[in-house]
Amino acid sequence: MGNMTTEELIQAGNRYLFGTYRRFPIVLVRGQGARVWDSDGREYLDFLAGIAVCSLGHSHPRVVRALREQAETLTHVSNLYYIEPQIRLAKLLVEHSFADRVFFCNSGAEAIEGAIKLARRFAYERTGGSRYEIITMENSFHGRTLAAVTATAQKKYHEGFEPLPEGFRYVPFDDMAAVAAAVSEKTCGILVEPIQGEGGIRIPSPGYLEELRKFCDDRELLLIFDEVQTGMGRTGHLFAHEEWDVEPDIMTLAKALGNGYPLGALLAREHIASVFVPGTHASTFGGNPLGMAAGMAVMETLLEKGTLEHCRVMGEYFRSQLENLKGHHETVRQIRGRGLMVGMELTVAGDNTVLKAMKRGLLINCTGGNVLRFVPPLIITKADVDEAVNILDEVLKEE
Ligand SMILES: Cc1ncc(COP(=O)(O)O)c(C=O)c1O
Repeated sequence: MGNMTTEELIQAGNRYLFGTYRRFPIVLVRGQGARVWDSDGREYLDFLAGIAVCSLGHSHPRVVRALREQAETLTHVSNLYYIEPQIRLAKLLVEHSFADRVFFCNSGAEAIEGAIKLARRFAYERTGGSRYEIITMENSFHGRTLAAVTATAQKKYHEGFEPLPEGFRYVPFDDMAAVAAAVSEKTCGILVEPIQGEGGIRIPSPGYLEELRKFCDDRELLLIFDEVQTGMGRTGHLFAHEEWDVEPDIMTLAKALGNGYPLGALLAREHIASVFVPGTHASTFGGNPLGMAAGMAVMETLLEKGTLEHCRVMGEYFRSQLENLKGHHETVRQIRGRGLMVGMELTVAGDNTVLKAMKRGLLINCTGGNVLRFVPPLIITKADVDEAVNILDEVLKEE
């Protein structure tokens, strides 16, 4: 493949890969910090970061060193043995979260599967299996495995995959009355993203998450936060829910946890985690030494003084610059976001804008049809923001 042209590579990709993605016609070959380069040597400012994955930037030296050293030492041994980097990362996550225990896996969907199983098993131990239903939100996104895609409320993701697993009820996001109307004697928990990502960077109204917490406490339901996209510093807090005065019982993480090494995690309080005993749940690759080395490098960097603060400051600056753009372009309806999880809602479909931005050297994407999503590395500079905003300004002028 080494001497194939870009065109030939794209043709081969279209020939040999499942056609599950509508891909942009470039081949990315290298990344450094907030920049990536394609096979023709063109440079891009990456404000998508592998969809909120490479939060420390591409090829972060600490992550690279950790992976290299771990690869030379021990790559994989299975969870039949104790693994020191796994224990160290679990301890660090516990020390910096509401949780008492951690289960490691490989992706967001796998973490969600684990959360669903854990909530059901917990309810089963208490009530003998009569409570298994989980309330989830419209416009949510939890992944593509059968249970995760069923937890994801939109019909378009379900079509042709029926029969779907039973036990999910959908309600509009940010609507307590709908939750109260949907709850029944079968309900065991509520699953929600603190800020909806794929749904278009939707931030809940003040009080919503706190009310959900109280609602769950009053009825002995489990509150599950899906922080796969919002977690690991993205919103300027280590976990997005820290902005509100509320903690979940179970939390899922993935995406930025490994900064590009596939890594997911399920975190829970002790009395809940303890229902998973030998034989109830497992994962061959989950928590393997390589992933743990990457996760450790990520956590240590995020916890260093200044990292999250930088994300908050850059986020505020970026959003203020986008607000300026809004003043000049009629197609910009609203800017939303926290930290460096930012959405720009347009009055028109966003796909064209994304393509035009790419052609000018800026990578972003579009969620929910008309919301431009910006989830750049947390290490971006003011100059990076200015460059991105200039490109957007140019692109929006053409609308
Ligand atoms: C909030 C949320 N949960 C779960 C997932 C699924 O993660 P994965 O693609 O790693 O399975 C995603 C992916 O976008 C997500 O944004």
